[in-house]
Amino acid sequence: MSRYPSRVQIVDVGPRDGLQNEKQPVPAAVKIALVARLEAAGLRRIEATSFVSPRWVPQMADAAEVMTGIVRRDDVVYSVLVPNLRGFESALPHRPDEIVVFGAASEAFSQKNINCSIAESIERFAPVVEAARAAGIHVRGAISCSVGCPYEGDIPPARVELVARLMKAIGVQHVGVADTIGVGTPIKTQRALEAALRHYSIDDVSGHYHDTYGQALANTLAALELGVWQFDASVAGLGGCPYAKGATGNVATEDVVYLLHGMGIETGIDLDRLIDAGVYISDHLGRPTQSRVAKAILNQRVG
Ligand code: HMG
Ligand code: MG
Repeated sequence: MSRYPSRVQIVDVGPRDGLQNEKQPVPAAVKIALVARLEAAGLRRIEATSFVSPRWVPQMADAAEVMTGIVRRDDVVYSVLVPNLRGFESALPHRPDEIVVFGAASEAFSQKNINCSIAESIERFAPVVEAARAAGIHVRGAISCSVGCPYEGDIPPARVELVARLMKAIGVQHVGVADTIGVGTPIKTQRALEAALRHYSIDDVSGHYHDTYGQALANTLAALELGVWQFDASVAGLGGCPYAKGATGNVATEDVVYLLHGMGIETGIDLDRLIDAGVYISDHLGRPTQSRVAKAILNQRVG
């Protein structure tokens, strides 16, 4: 019997993590159309936007417009990032299925990204988590910089364990162990996941990999070996974090899907239609897709 999961669930974070870093404004209508194309490709979990300070991340200032414009499907889980109660209150009228509070395993990154320490972030998240759960909204926590930080360098697994423990204590239901700057390699990735798994079950832990050093698929495989079956990825490899300079995009959803399908693992995603979604947004941005798989298949389509 294979030690790998038979089915994997992917959250496409392209509309949020992907587009938050674009220099030119991307119209809400384009974001909404991208979400529709991801749904058409079979994505059933989409990170749609974030309700953060527009002074910090101007590209997400249209969060309300995006959430209003999406034609919601009952079988799709739409999640949004919220950094504080203010963000949660702005998100609530838009009925997100899930919110994501985002902390970090690095003190310096926490300060740069959300302007507070790790301990302060947990205090800030606690009432948000409580309010969300009272409203029947599922709560995820993102643990950024879980293997390395642009300011602090290597991050030991004990820091991931600490943040996972603190998140668990305030009622966060799932943690995403994120390699924000894509410096991780497979064994380090497994150690970070194992640290989170001390507090969360395998069904409540996901991997989130950026491909800066070209390690994201190797790290995905390492996570699969542990039994992790939920991953974030970004169509066309869009993205990067405005507070993690030099970090490239998330691993491309197309590349992860190709890997998984090639291993006989189901995703429910139609790779060709996903590539079409990637072409749509790449054309809009005026640059080629970052997905190696999409490039290869698009070349064949031409030939
Ligand atoms: P602050 O400046 O300490 O907060 O920022 P503040 O409470 O002093 O407020 C400052 C201003 O922002 C005020 O406006 C507030 O009203 C406003 P002013 O009166 O000066 O005009 N404000 C808000 N406006 C809209 N929505 C809100 C909100 N909150 C305050 N929710 C804060 C603290 C957390 C707000 C800020 O640092 C922030 O918004 N940070 C977000 C940064 C971010 O979005 N980063 C990218 C996402 S994380 C990521 O990409 C990593 C991830 O993908 C995983 C991975 O790869 O590792 C998740
Ligand atoms: Mg990210």
